Amino acid sequence: MKRFLPAVVAVLVLVALAVVLRDGDRPPERHVPLGAAVSTRWLDSDARYRRVIARNFDSVTPENELKMAYTQPRRGRYDFGPADRVVDEARLRGKEVRGHTLVWHGQIPRWVTRGGLGKRALARVMREHIATVVRRYRGKVHEWDVVNEALEDFGGWRPSVWYRTLGPGYVEQAFQAAHAADPSARLYYNDNLGRDRAAKWLAIRRLVVYLKRQGVPIHGVGIQNHVTTASYPGREEMETNLRLLEKLGVDVQITEMDVTTSQGPSEDALGLQARAYRDAAEACAAVRACKRFTVWGVADQFSWRGGHERPLLFDSHYRRKPAYAPLREALGGSG
Ligand code: G3I
Repeated sequence: MKRFLPAVVAVLVLVALAVVLRDGDRPPERHVPLGAAVSTRWLDSDARYRRVIARNFDSVTPENELKMAYTQPRRGRYDFGPADRVVDEARLRGKEVRGHTLVWHGQIPRWVTRGGLGKRALARVMREHIATVVRRYRGKVHEWDVVNEALEDFGGWRPSVWYRTLGPGYVEQAFQAAHAADPSARLYYNDNLGRDRAAKWLAIRRLVVYLKRQGVPIHGVGIQNHVTTASYPGREEMETNLRLLEKLGVDVQITEMDVTTSQGPSEDALGLQARAYRDAAEACAAVRACKRFTVWGVADQFSWRGGHERPLLFDSHYRRKPAYAPLREALGGSG
């Protein structure tokens, strides 16, 4: 028996070596955090809402509370009450916060849209707004949607008050202001895929190339993905396009996913919905630059798309729907 000992030891060493080498070749395990948009409307009034967020999501995005209409309803008069509520609750529960959004055509106060502000005045308003909001949450909010939906469905510039008054340079100015206010924050451009997805993917890439060439501090692109079971980007389309963005040197995220169910086949609508979520999650997990996956709401009854559409991961009784488990699995488990 003793005679064979060296041979047995040698074999064991070789096997161990093979295992180590094989593991070394494997990409390290990925876990993409799962986030949800949350709202103060229910944070305060519904303990189950708070519990479901605490147990099932890794990060939160205030659904409305950081938008300009909320944070600066009157010129120079800031109100951080609702945003603070979301940020404090998130931090209490150990969740990251996505800052959404600094510059958008929607939910801006009337004094901006109707104020007749000229180019210099509006540029100053924008810069001061960004500086004030980003500085307030420095160290608490580490990533921002600096500009949201600057492009239209078919790829042209959206004629928002920002674009009409400041020209396309407003995007660059907004990123510079955010960077100056918090140099360590990750700064995102966020947009939807519109009615012509191919045109929109291309337009978003062009914008990123342009901004990068100008030396603008942009670190990521958020893709919203508000879709239906009848039409959504499949895994291949999503993965290919996320990779193309990654190649431009930016991170990517799915920032606002929901999937309505009334337009597709009614049979197994929730199964189809699960597939749409899983496709996007698999694409994200396959792309190293994809840093987070956020769904736009918590439970169906509160969705901006209408409860009857059942677009989210939890039903109106806060039960996990068929989409939740495969989505988590695709993102690398946990939760
Ligand atoms: O603030 C009033 C409140 O005082 C009033 O009691 C209530 C009555 O309905 O309305 C409240 O305002 C609503 C607000 O959400 C807060 O609930 C607005 O009417 C409503 O239009 C607004 O909708 C939001 C929408 O953006 C505005 O365009 C949705 O909640 C929010 O989910 C949605 O989010 C956007 C993202 O920011 C950007 N991407 C698209 C996405 C969906 O539209």
